[in-house]
Amino acid sequence: MKILIVGGAGYIGSHVAREFLDGGHSVTVYDNLSTGTRQNLFAEARFVEGDILDAQSLAKLAREGFDALVHLAAAKAAGESMTDPMKYSTQNLNGTVNIINAAVVGGIGKLVFSSSAAVYGEPKYLPVDEKHPTNPENYYGFTKLEIERILGWYDKLKGLRFAALRYFNAAGYDPAGRISGLERSPANLLPVVMEVAAGMRPELMVFGEDYETKDGTGVRDYVHVSDLARGHVAALDWIGCNNRSLVVNLGSEEGISVKEMLESARRITGKPIPAKIVGRRAGDPAKLVASSSLAHELLGWSARHSDVDSLVRTTWEAYRVNAGGS
Ligand code: WQD
Repeated sequence: MKILIVGGAGYIGSHVAREFLDGGHSVTVYDNLSTGTRQNLFAEARFVEGDILDAQSLAKLAREGFDALVHLAAAKAAGESMTDPMKYSTQNLNGTVNIINAAVVGGIGKLVFSSSAAVYGEPKYLPVDEKHPTNPENYYGFTKLEIERILGWYDKLKGLRFAALRYFNAAGYDPAGRISGLERSPANLLPVVMEVAAGMRPELMVFGEDYETKDGTGVRDYVHVSDLARGHVAALDWIGCNNRSLVVNLGSEEGISVKEMLESARRITGKPIPAKIVGRRAGDPAKLVASSSLAHELLGWSARHSDVDSLVRTTWEAYRVNAGGS
C-alpha cells in the first residue's frame, strides 16, 4: 500500500514508518521537523517537509493518490495544554481538520489517528476499557476526544474509515536500534530517567510516594513504541477488511510504578540515577492501566516488548549510542 504518514519524523511516527516499511509498503513522511528530526527519516521513505497548518500543501500532496493516511502530528504535553490551550487548539484541532479535509479531497479513504488514554481522565475503574466514560482532565485530552468525534462525523458523511488508537504511555525504542532521534526536552518518565543516567540532567524528581499503589509511586501502563507501531498496521488492515471504523485502546495491561522503572534503569544502565521525592504533580492519577481485550479480539494484537526491562534496555541503547552515555 501507499501510505502517507503525517508526523512520521517524530518519536512514535518514526517507529510507525519503520513498521510500514518493514511490511513492504511505500511510505511518504510529511513533517515540519518542529519536534521530529531528520535523524528519524529512512532512506527508503520519501520525505516532504511541510506544516499541517498549510492546508494547501497538504491537499496537494494528498491528491497524489494514497491508500491510507496515518496522522501522528500533534502537541502532546498535557501540562502545557492547560497553560497554552491556544497552541493545542491550533496544532491539534486546526491541524487535524486540515489533514482530514485533505484526505477527503485527495480521495484517501482510510485514516489512522493517534488518540490517547488522556480521553478517559481520572479512571473510575481499572483496567480502563473503551466503554469507560470519556472525561478528559486536560485540554490535550479534550483535543484528542474532539478529533475522534469529528472523525465519527466524517465517517458518516464522507465514508472516511478511521482507526482511533488510544495509546497508553508510549515508551522504549526500536529493539533493532534503527531509530536514533532523541526527544528534545522530554517530560515523560523514561526519557527523563535516561537523561539522568546519561548525565544530561542531575536527578529525577519522583512526583509523590504517597499514592495508594504497590510502592506509593504512580503506576502506569507503559506500552513499547514498536508494539504501538504494529498496532497501526493491524488497525489499518482491520478497517480496510471490515470497511468500518474502530476506536481501540493500545496498552500492555501491566502496571509499572515509578520506583520499578527507576530500579530497572539503575540495574540495566549501571548508573546511580539520583532521585528525589517531591510533591505530587497536579492532575496525576495514582494508577492507570488499560484493558486491551478489544485489540486482542479484533486485531490479534498484544504487547510483546512492553515489560519493564525491555522498555528500559531499548531506550538506554538509544541514549547510550546517541546521547553520549556509556
Ligand atoms: C508517568 C509517571 C508521573 C516524570 C502523559 C500524558 C498522557 C500521555 C502520556 C500522550 C507518573 C511520574 C514523571 C518525572 C515522575 N501522552 N513522573 N517524574 O503523566 O502518565 O502521561 O504521557 O498521549 O496524556 O499526560 O506520563 O511519563 O509524564 O508520567 O515521577 O519527571 O511518572 O508522576 O506517575 P503521564 P509521564
